[in-house]
Amino acid sequence: MYSPNEHRYDVMKYNRCGKSGLKLPAISLGFWHNFGGVDLLENSRAVARHALDLGITHFDLANNYGPPPGSAEETMGYILKNDLHGYRDELIISSKAGYGMWPGPYGDWGSRKFLVASLDQSLKRMGLDYVDIFYHHRPDPETPLEETMGALQDIVRSGKALYAGISNYPPDLTRKAEEIMRSAGMHILIHQPKYSMFERWIEDGLLKELRDDGIGCIVFSPLAQGLLTDKYLEGIPADSRAGRPTGFLRPEHVTEEKVAKVRKLNEMAKARGQKLAQMALAWAMRHREVTSAVIGASRVSQIDDAVNAISSQPFATDELRKIDSILAGK
Ligand SMILES: NC(=O)c1ccc[n+]([C@@H]2O[C@H](COP(=O)([O-])OP(=O)(O)OC[C@H]3O[C@@H](n4cnc5c(N)ncnc54)[C@H](OP(=O)(O)O)[C@@H]3O)[C@@H](O)[C@H]2O)c1
Repeated sequence: MYSPNEHRYDVMKYNRCGKSGLKLPAISLGFWHNFGGVDLLENSRAVARHALDLGITHFDLANNYGPPPGSAEETMGYILKNDLHGYRDELIISSKAGYGMWPGPYGDWGSRKFLVASLDQSLKRMGLDYVDIFYHHRPDPETPLEETMGALQDIVRSGKALYAGISNYPPDLTRKAEEIMRSAGMHILIHQPKYSMFERWIEDGLLKELRDDGIGCIVFSPLAQGLLTDKYLEGIPADSRAGRPTGFLRPEHVTEEKVAKVRKLNEMAKARGQKLAQMALAWAMRHREVTSAVIGASRVSQIDDAVNAISSQPFATDELRKIDSILAGK
């Protein structure tokens, strides 16, 4: 029977989430890939247990993670029941709704109907009474924001989620969403945007917005799904995300142009005495607004790599400039 490492809180750093009472680990573990029905359950269990052993207390899910959709939450349910039973109060478990989940007009986007029903399904799959954070997964251009935020408020009031979050919202919509929440005496705890050396949109206004509003920030795909590691330097391994048929990263995304940049970044990481994965994570976490980076991991060793990034030496100004110039293709 598994029991977590008693030293699990010795190494991890816990950052306050915006202006809230909640702290999140600097590294969180996402269940988007590697925890679905197509994956080996024993490996998924080992990765999740190793994460907790190293102080990763936050597991990030969504209704549609798998494949098939929903199966990652079932895996989480299995792990909670069989391995983490008795540790619920040491964990932050999140889920989301906002992408297509079931057929018909009520299984997608941002209506109250969809959000409430989807969370009920997620709770059943995970065998939980509540999630810690429930997110609206992406903006809905057609549903009034008041309705979507109203659903999040009621979900929190019902006790089925402790905190509300938004994901993939641009800065202006983030401000409006927070205004609606405030008018109801509530608050958006956290925003989950994509951020890596290859995807820097949050630097153009979102980080400032989150700082001004006291909203936390958990950046997703900080390794650009594995591109920002040494994995693709010699081609596409069959057991990589781009090599497997079910991965969201497709072989055509692994372009020669990107790999050429990754090669230079890899040399730079070596000169800093670390792996590229660690340098890329340290880079994504360098903003004080960033509470946590949510990574994916297909094996236990990747959790070790990520956690080692926490003790990275800070970037000197000329190193940051060099990264910018590599990314600009110079
Ligand atoms: N809110 C949203 O819209 C949204 C969207 C996407 C993701 N997310 C969240 O973000 C989480 C992380 O996304 P992600 O999986 O794309 O993150 P990522 O950390 O950028 O990529 C993870 C993948 O990179 C590879 N990798 C990780 N560490 C490595 C290492 N040390 N050396 C070599 N390769 C390594 C592994 O792929 P291999 O299989 O190739 O080993 C791993 O599965 C998701 O699970 C989900 O919770 C949220």
